[in-house]
Amino acid sequence: MKLKIATTRRQKHNLCSTTSLSVIAITANMSCDASLLLETANGIQSGQESDRSSGMRNFEYVRTIKEALEKECPMTFRGPCIEMKTGRRDSRESYLTEVKAFIPNRIDSMPSVLSTFQSISIDIEATVVLLGAHSLGQVHCVNLVHRLYPTVDPTLDPDYAEHLKGRCPTPDPEPKAVLYARNDSETPMILDNFYHKLSLEHKGLLSVDQALASDPLTFPFVEKMAADNGYFQDQFARAILLL
Ligand code: HEM
Repeated sequence: MKLKIATTRRQKHNLCSTTSLSVIAITANMSCDASLLLETANGIQSGQESDRSSGMRNFEYVRTIKEALEKECPMTFRGPCIEMKTGRRDSRESYLTEVKAFIPNRIDSMPSVLSTFQSISIDIEATVVLLGAHSLGQVHCVNLVHRLYPTVDPTLDPDYAEHLKGRCPTPDPEPKAVLYARNDSETPMILDNFYHKLSLEHKGLLSVDQALASDPLTFPFVEKMAADNGYFQDQFARAILLL
């Protein structure tokens, strides 16, 4: 695939230059929303059609690259189909202090997590389903070792703890070492209800993942999601729009 993209780029080097100039112009006025890549559809004319866009061309190569990507990694990430709202602008500022003060921590208690989410109008069911995003991706050992050393967290399945110790063999992982365990070892590339199933089996990776299955307010939703992937996906689609 890399070869295909490189060849495409070499053959049509002006794709980048012509498009990026126009994107800079749009970004300056309208914020960056990749709207230039949208084609005319359903009676709505694309900005590509404007005579001011005459210098822009070779969009077919974007399609070629997307097709090459899909061919190389078909259906790599799967999950619910969610109709996202558009028009949210990128922030122009960065908020270091808010990150520390607001973003929940992996060792927060469930009442604290629920109250943080509640403060931005995310209800309990939506909080439970959003944490299901941990069905994808990984946790670096530095965020995990406190559950394994010096003694194994009793809420963790002992066999699973041994597996995790294999992934994270030392209590003091080198901060720059990329040691990690997969969030969901069964279906790591699919957004599904395995996260909730694993939490019920005491195989939640983060303390907060495990707490979800033991708190009386969240447990009934975890059970329901673990039993029904369709319900999980419907709820995820609802909740991600609240976020
Ligand atoms: C109580 C709330 C949450 C806490 C405490 C939390 C904490 C964490 C931590 C500690 C990691 C591991 C980071 C690392 O070691 O590299 C992680 C990974 C991740 N989280 Fe969360 N998270 C929360 C909620 C969410 C939500 C609401 C979403 C999305 C809707 C989300 C999506 C993810 C994803 C996709 C990963 C994997 C990232 C990767 O593979 O690099 N998390 N989270």
